[in-house]
Amino acid sequence: MVPTPAPDDDVRAAGAAASVQFGQYRSARRTLLHLSDTHLLAGNPPLNGRIDTAANLQRTLEAVERMQLRPDAIVFTGDLTDLGEADAYRALRAAVEPVAERLGAPIVWVAGNHDERPAMRQALLDAPPTEDPVTGVWDLDGLRVIALDSTVPGWHHGDLDEEQLRWLGGILAQPAPLGTILALHHPPLPSHVPLFDILELRDQGRLADVIAGTDVRAILAGHLHYSTSGTFAGVPVSVASATCYTMNLTRPAASVNGMDAAQSFHLVHVYDDTVTHSVVPVVEAPTGDYFSPEWVAEMAARTPEERLELFSRKSVA
Ligand SMILES: [Fe+2]
Ligand SMILES: [Fe+2]
Repeated sequence: MVPTPAPDDDVRAAGAAASVQFGQYRSARRTLLHLSDTHLLAGNPPLNGRIDTAANLQRTLEAVERMQLRPDAIVFTGDLTDLGEADAYRALRAAVEPVAERLGAPIVWVAGNHDERPAMRQALLDAPPTEDPVTGVWDLDGLRVIALDSTVPGWHHGDLDEEQLRWLGGILAQPAPLGTILALHHPPLPSHVPLFDILELRDQGRLADVIAGTDVRAILAGHLHYSTSGTFAGVPVSVASATCYTMNLTRPAASVNGMDAAQSFHLVHVYDDTVTHSVVPVVEAPTGDYFSPEWVAEMAARTPEERLELFSRKSVA
């Protein structure tokens, strides 16, 4: 039997090469790119004396474009700049907006503790330069994405004030057709690295109370500069590493520091019943050429039984 082609909706999300269904899951409903912690500086001096954050972002964006995706949104979970300088926000949008335009995807900008709300609002979002939390709601054809602002002006730890939590609760009172994904900078998770517990999202029980029993299906976060995942109030939490520098976790926890290597981002697929978060390392390495669109087309032309024979059966020695 020839597999049923996925609906147009799914084709858009999954990309042409993956628009056939060989397994038991229907194609992803929506696809997001999750990047974090760009930490750009005005004039691009080396961060910490040695990290070229603009070049590292550029390498990341080139990797994004090599994927030939049509994502439904590109989410940046905070620490967009290192010092909250207006020129750094201008450099960020100059780098990212043309890419987003080519991919046809909206950008979800989330504030981090290194950002400054007034400059971020004015130079990045073309909004009045106030200290109000930077929040937003996107409807991605039924998938709702809500950006929260977990920053505390003047501090590096995170918190969510009562007004923002009330606002969130009001939105979540009405479920979305494909559910909701929250994006915030400070992850509601523990870290084994001591420094991050000092800079954690405080008083997390209040957020748990707000999202309990709602349609929140995933929480995207950053801040840690390493990829990790867990659950919070029963909801999966996925932390993307950084585009600028990452934490060298081969060190003992108390000695973990940043390194100019292992940058990555996440590819988020929203399926009917689950959400996957795939880590995409920003590397270029010799890569095989066995699998191709032609190979997929060849498999698509076969019956499921033939595909098993051709590709699953171990050859007898
Ligand atoms: Fe950061
Ligand atoms: Fe941070």
